[in-house]
Amino acid sequence: MNEIHPIFDRILQRKDKEKLLNQRSVCVWFTGFSGSGKSTLAINLEQELHNRGFLTQILDGDNIRSGINKNLTFSKEDRAENIRRISEVTKLFVNAGVITLNTFISPRKEMRDSARGIIGKENFIEVFVNAPIEVCEQRDTKGLYKKARAGEIKNFTGIDAPFEVPEHPDVEVRTDQLSLSECTGKILNYVLDKISK
Ligand code: ADX
Repeated sequence: MNEIHPIFDRILQRKDKEKLLNQRSVCVWFTGFSGSGKSTLAINLEQELHNRGFLTQILDGDNIRSGINKNLTFSKEDRAENIRRISEVTKLFVNAGVITLNTFISPRKEMRDSARGIIGKENFIEVFVNAPIEVCEQRDTKGLYKKARAGEIKNFTGIDAPFEVPEHPDVEVRTDQLSLSECTGKILNYVLDKISK
């Protein structure tokens, strides 16, 4: 018995929305350690895109984990669920013609591959925000590395939980070597080519 009746064929299509917005929608997926600079880069990139007339939405790990995903921990399974849910949400945004800027540690290759699968590889730009763990720990912008070292936080990425380096990111930025505007510019150049009509 089928009691679900999807109406996908009757709703306006993504191409109609993209035409209205005069943009191609993609997901820019930032992966990297806590403190590597993902959120800062996404905020800067969003401003640059906004200035050029593009409609965007930031989906940020800390924000999402205080709302829709507030029931999830940092276990391997819950991190995978975090990424699965946000990938489904991203798919809705991309279908609405909106460019999303996703900032999640997403430490395992498997979860990034699953995100790419849900969102669609043609819509997915992987950005590796690369700063060595020593640098992130030194920055310790949120004071979390200190807590992780003291054993107050468990499963902290880079301390007692793994991070698998992306093998073939579309863009890689070394935030410990380049300035914020250089890193933003590098990502912007790549993204502009994909989103401009
Ligand atoms: S992910 O691994 O599931 O992708 P996500 O990006 O959503 O992580 O959340 C990471 C943020 O949660 C970090 O920036 C940090 O502020 C906070 N956080 C709290 N506990 C942990 C932890 N054990 N490991 C990593 N980040 C943590």
